[in-house]
Amino acid sequence: TSSSMWGGRFSEATDQFVAEFTASVQFDQRMYRQDIRGSIAHATMLARVGVLSTEDRDLIVDGLGQILAEIEAGQFEWRVDLEDVHMNIEHRLTERIGIAGKRLHTGRSRNDQVATDIRLYLRDEIDAIRAELKRLLTGLIDLAEREADTIMPGFTHLQTAQPVTFGHHLLAWFENLKRDDERLTDLRRRVNRMPLGSAALAGTTYPIDRRITAELLGFEAISENSLDAVSDRDFAIEFTAAASLIMMHLSRFSEELVLWASAQFQFVDLPDRFCTGSSIMPQKKNPDVPELVRGKSGRVFGHLMALLTLMKGQPLAYNKDNQEDKEPLFDAVDTVRGSLRAFADMVPALQPRRDVMREAARRGFATATDLADYLVKRGMPFRDAHEVVGKAVGYGVQSGKDLADMSLAELQQFSDVIADDVFAVLTLEGSVNARDHIGGTAPAQVRAAVLRARDRIA
Ligand code: ARG
Repeated sequence: TSSSMWGGRFSEATDQFVAEFTASVQFDQRMYRQDIRGSIAHATMLARVGVLSTEDRDLIVDGLGQILAEIEAGQFEWRVDLEDVHMNIEHRLTERIGIAGKRLHTGRSRNDQVATDIRLYLRDEIDAIRAELKRLLTGLIDLAEREADTIMPGFTHLQTAQPVTFGHHLLAWFENLKRDDERLTDLRRRVNRMPLGSAALAGTTYPIDRRITAELLGFEAISENSLDAVSDRDFAIEFTAAASLIMMHLSRFSEELVLWASAQFQFVDLPDRFCTGSSIMPQKKNPDVPELVRGKSGRVFGHLMALLTLMKGQPLAYNKDNQEDKEPLFDAVDTVRGSLRAFADMVPALQPRRDVMREAARRGFATATDLADYLVKRGMPFRDAHEVVGKAVGYGVQSGKDLADMSLAELQQFSDVIADDVFAVLTLEGSVNARDHIGGTAPAQVRAAVLRARDRIA
């Protein structure tokens, strides 16, 4: 029975199924690098304050280095009976270096150890996710710059509303993903606090110096309260919430790409390498990447709910429930990272069909608001102008003519304020150029926004 790490007080071995049921090594082994790094820092600190001899420290640091190499070479044997990544590595260390290995866990508990490992892991992943996000943001800016003059219909209710520039539309995606990046930066500060030293829940009797460990591990701050530190998983929830927002944004973006790539829209072509075919219909080219990203958003939202529910009933401090934080968190990380990577690769390769977008904007009375504004600028109250233009549109629907296709005489049936300068505002270029203020769709504004955007992500 005492073959296990805590076998001392037990008189029978753990039930075989219970051992497997309670183990986490199947999934927490992905934190091996952080676990080893944390142990090296802990041993280094213990030696510095005189709790561990320098000989033992050297053996431990060496041994852990060898174990790291073993794991990376695929030669490490993960044992479910040793429960988790922490005890697997510690057990192997003792196998390799003997008694010194048994001293590593002095002044530490798996409770502060695991909390430290997750934070180190998530900190690294946030940096990798931000790198993908930056690639995507850059791709959006580059494409917006190329498409600053491209005119497309802007939609409300998915009905043609007013002409916009494609560059402006792309920069809308830039803005919401940029906010996501700010959220990651902000929450990273709260991830980057060190629980190590809290031990099981109350702290430890050894004269530890947590500042040394924190500095070795690159933590910005150390936790203030040991009970809180071993049981807090807010940071994982916050991350999953930010990841959910990223997925929600990518899902909306995906929805547009799926629509735009359809035969009915044809606004963009997705390169073949981001699509797949059908096993039965030879003509099919399906926009799998955006469809899948749209679908994957659901699992990340689910993980957010799982983590909130995981935490809501837990009394202080550590409870085994917390072991359930890992799979949702890891899957949220993998999903958001993969989705961003796919989008960062795909966006620069989008092929807009400018002629199709322009033609779509030309139909559907997209410049009706411009005509109303024209009348207002000539003294008509806006509500009357709205009515006049509504009648002109009604006539257009019946006669099959868009506003710009009508003759001056036809337009003048609805108001004698209309003169032949009206055609300048009824054109698509006139419409977008007129919205020439910060945040507006005019090509000149898109170019200026592109410059600011480059600055903001620099
Ligand atoms: N595998 C555990 C987890 O993920 C490590 C901490 C276990 N602590 C304990 N007291 N059983 O939470």
